[in-house]
Amino acid sequence: MCGIVGYVGERRAAPVILDGLRRLEYRGYDSAGLAVLAGDHVDTVRRVGHVAALLAAVPPELEGTTAIGHTRWATHGGVTEANAHPHLDATNRIALAHNGIIENHTTLRARLEEEGFKFRSETDTEVLVHLVHKFYTGDPEAAVKTALGLVQGTYGIAVIFAEHPGVIIAARNGSPLVVGKGNGETFLASDPHALSAHTREVVYLEDRDIVRIEANGWTISRMDGGGVSRNVEVLGEEWAEEGRGDFSHHMLKEIHEQPESLARCLRGRVVPELGGARLGGLELSPRDIASIRHITVLGCGTSFHAGLVGAAAMEGLARIPASAEIASEFRYRNPVIGPDDLFFAVSQSGETADTLGAVKEVQVKGGRVFGVVNVVGSSIARTCGHGVYVHSGPEIAVASTKAFTSQVAAMLVAALSFARTRALGPHEGKAFGDELLAIPERVGEWLASEPRSVMDAVDLCSKGRFVFFLGRGVSHAVALEGALKLKEIAYVPCMAYPAAEMKHGPIALIDKGTPVIVIVPDDVMRDKTLSTIQEVKARGARVIVVHTAGDTHAAKVADISIPVPRASTLISPLLSVLPLQLLAYRAGLALGRDIDRPRNLAKSVTVE
Ligand code: F6R
Repeated sequence: MCGIVGYVGERRAAPVILDGLRRLEYRGYDSAGLAVLAGDHVDTVRRVGHVAALLAAVPPELEGTTAIGHTRWATHGGVTEANAHPHLDATNRIALAHNGIIENHTTLRARLEEEGFKFRSETDTEVLVHLVHKFYTGDPEAAVKTALGLVQGTYGIAVIFAEHPGVIIAARNGSPLVVGKGNGETFLASDPHALSAHTREVVYLEDRDIVRIEANGWTISRMDGGGVSRNVEVLGEEWAEEGRGDFSHHMLKEIHEQPESLARCLRGRVVPELGGARLGGLELSPRDIASIRHITVLGCGTSFHAGLVGAAAMEGLARIPASAEIASEFRYRNPVIGPDDLFFAVSQSGETADTLGAVKEVQVKGGRVFGVVNVVGSSIARTCGHGVYVHSGPEIAVASTKAFTSQVAAMLVAALSFARTRALGPHEGKAFGDELLAIPERVGEWLASEPRSVMDAVDLCSKGRFVFFLGRGVSHAVALEGALKLKEIAYVPCMAYPAAEMKHGPIALIDKGTPVIVIVPDDVMRDKTLSTIQEVKARGARVIVVHTAGDTHAAKVADISIPVPRASTLISPLLSVLPLQLLAYRAGLALGRDIDRPRNLAKSVTVE
């Protein structure tokens, strides 16, 4: 969603800000703007639409060396230039960009209007800049602190003052901010990715931190007083700057990166000599593992789907009762949490507000929660304190692909490590671990020889009114994931069901030619799923079957057959999801969609 970039140094700031904003485009936004300190005032340029429109509008004479920029994903107020950030105070001498939501903005606005402040936008943010102006008596940090003392809600803000060239004041509460250390220059961003061209040395701010940023350093204090120092962390190699390479879209590149991202996720964690796995970040002794009574895996969207596979593995392999829940629902149902319950919070971005809220709810109730997170240093990773990084590397396309498979792989490794304590002998454990370790290569081989039938499926699905996805057990999670991908990238209406549910209602929708995609690995549920295929075929459905290579019967009942390599049930999602990712990508392409930035979506969903 919204993004913030700031720069203080000796360079012309506008190009640095524009470059940072371009790197944040993947998060999803609908307008962009920047504010540059120019002598005794602040110049702003704001545009609806892409950063390219902003770039075209920024005049070359915008010379200042202190600036802030913002990409906005509209929440309060329409997508207009007036609502785009940064917002200015009445004197045009203070500019402010904000991520998050000010919940009491209506009350604050009414009060400020009574006092004579004139508003120029419909946003919740504008109250902040007027409050900062109201309390400004020469000390910018004190003004921001006093203003923030009146607001309820979440914020990551960046503020510049015409009277303080070379200074940015930033503060965070529930919306991430990082400071980037340069050489004689300092950066600010809501996401370290924005800084990847300039520095890998970053400082993550904590909630209720306020920071004064200057070219040669920064000072952090707490909202309730007192200074604090935070460590500089160095981002890993995989987070270094990178583009699309030879691929036409980030999504396609990320699909093809899965052999490496999976290998990174598994490396050093599956230990064949032990017939098990080691996950340093979990810090659980065998005795702790033996006493777990229930595991709940929390997540949203794709991460929830990965969580479904994770929960199935915890139960099926480690024999620990387990379930997966949508984080946004979990957090408000006042869950009962026992002392021996364990939670995993799965999130690519580590910033999803619903998942973060669920983590906090678990913690308030005394529960233990581990993160299964991709973005290092993100809010969920930090709030959990312990967990597993999935090491996918940056995922830029809005649709999650390589993060999904790494999340599944990380959960399978965790399940294997628990299983060795609770259920599995060394030989069974080793067999599972060996199969996992072979997965990156098998994924690579399949991607290198993508069956032509994927294109036949694209043809059928992009012409259909809607598409059904069916599967059982973990293949139902894959069906949900395939349907989500096709919806978000190709905007094709889809439904996903456990196959046996069809006869309880949805089968009424099947008509002549309805595309139905069925995921049928050669496992204990195969024959039952094949029966469902017969039922939908008998009603005219055109059936695309994703099945185990060599399963000639499954291939024969299919109108379109897509074979994937044989795998044991719990591991099979890592292979059966591949054709569905490519189907969504290619259908989106065929229908002329904006693949990497589908409409209405944001990469990092930081509002409820
Ligand atoms: C779908 C997708 C979303 C995310 C969801 C959670 O392709 O990307 O459904 O999975 O918004 O995001 P994270 O994983 O960042 O918590």
